[in-house]
Amino acid sequence: MSDERIQTPVLTPEDELDRSLRPKLLEDFVGQHHLRDQLLVSLEAASRRGEALDHLLLAGPPGLGKTSLAQIVAAELEVPFVQTAGPALERKGDVAAFLTALEPRSVFFVDEIHRLPRALEETFYPAMEDRRLPITVGQGAGARVVTLDLPPFTLVGATTRAGLLTTPLRDRFGLQHRLEPYDAGDLAEIVRRSAEILDIAIDEAGAQAIAARSRGTPRVANRLLRRARDFAEVRAEGVITAQAAQHALALLDIDDHGLDRLDRELLRAICARFGGGPVGLSTLAVAVGEEADTIEDVYEPYLLQQGFLKRTPRGRAATPRAFALLGLPAPAAAEPLF
Ligand SMILES: Nc1ncnc2c1ncn2[C@@H]1O[C@H](COP(=O)(O)OP(=O)(O)OP(=O)(O)O)[C@@H](O)[C@H]1O
Ligand SMILES: [Mg+2]
Repeated sequence: MSDERIQTPVLTPEDELDRSLRPKLLEDFVGQHHLRDQLLVSLEAASRRGEALDHLLLAGPPGLGKTSLAQIVAAELEVPFVQTAGPALERKGDVAAFLTALEPRSVFFVDEIHRLPRALEETFYPAMEDRRLPITVGQGAGARVVTLDLPPFTLVGATTRAGLLTTPLRDRFGLQHRLEPYDAGDLAEIVRRSAEILDIAIDEAGAQAIAARSRGTPRVANRLLRRARDFAEVRAEGVITAQAAQHALALLDIDDHGLDRLDRELLRAICARFGGGPVGLSTLAVAVGEEADTIEDVYEPYLLQQGFLKRTPRGRAATPRAFALLGLPAPAAAEPLF
């Protein structure tokens, strides 16, 4: 069993705050209305039948609420929540230890399920399908396979990369949902809700100013809110107005589009150093000194969505909008980028 799983994580004050802002029940979960409606029906049906909820796969970019939703599912079903992550599971025994200890109908949450070792995936198939876990006992010639019966349980898998999941694993999730970036209205509501929990006054324009720069992501909204709170408390008489929010975000180097320094560095690298691209992800990662995975998971989705960046078969390319943002002349392309 890997240390990662058994170590008690050290919680920073920011983590504690994050936890206090986490929605506990479906009614506190803002936005994603379609997903929420569908989940509500599934939860109610499972509750009425007294059964475990079908296995649930939650996909979507970081900070959109996958972990929150997994916890909400357990809370709504009033069943235990048991948590691990793909990379923390190394051997079949790790999986067996978790599965055999589950109370009936528990939610077993596997975060980053796309990082589950391939060899372990097959352990999950019979467990998910028939609640059976074949394990090998003994060694060499005396080894035999014993099949353990498992309690009914719900596997909730979360992934930022649904595309990396193998088809057999994905197909065994009866419920599959994708979380989409939040619109400004939902983000403003999240900001207002969080401000109330944090006990800081915020006006409507302040909430909107933060929402507009939150990249469609609740976690970012909450982070910006906390910085705006610091600013408001020491410089703006304790109220987050639009102006206070703007000052706070300027201190963080976040522009009106919600882009931070690394976003701009990425775009600058593509525009100025690679002639607008296309440039490969790994080359780009080296150019800005950031992990390729982080660029792909955290930075790129928003830049793509906002039309600053384009993915091509040969790599990433900047759009005319990116050149305009940086105040650079767009190259007279032989063929238009769009
Ligand atoms: N729909 C929502 N309503 C209110 N707050 C939300 C919502 N979704 C997320 N949040 C807030 O954003 C924070 C981040 O959400 P969460 O940890 O669930 O994201 P995640 O998808 O699991 O991210 P990661 O992929 O990085 O694990 C939560 O602590 C919570 O406060
Ligand atoms: Mg999470």
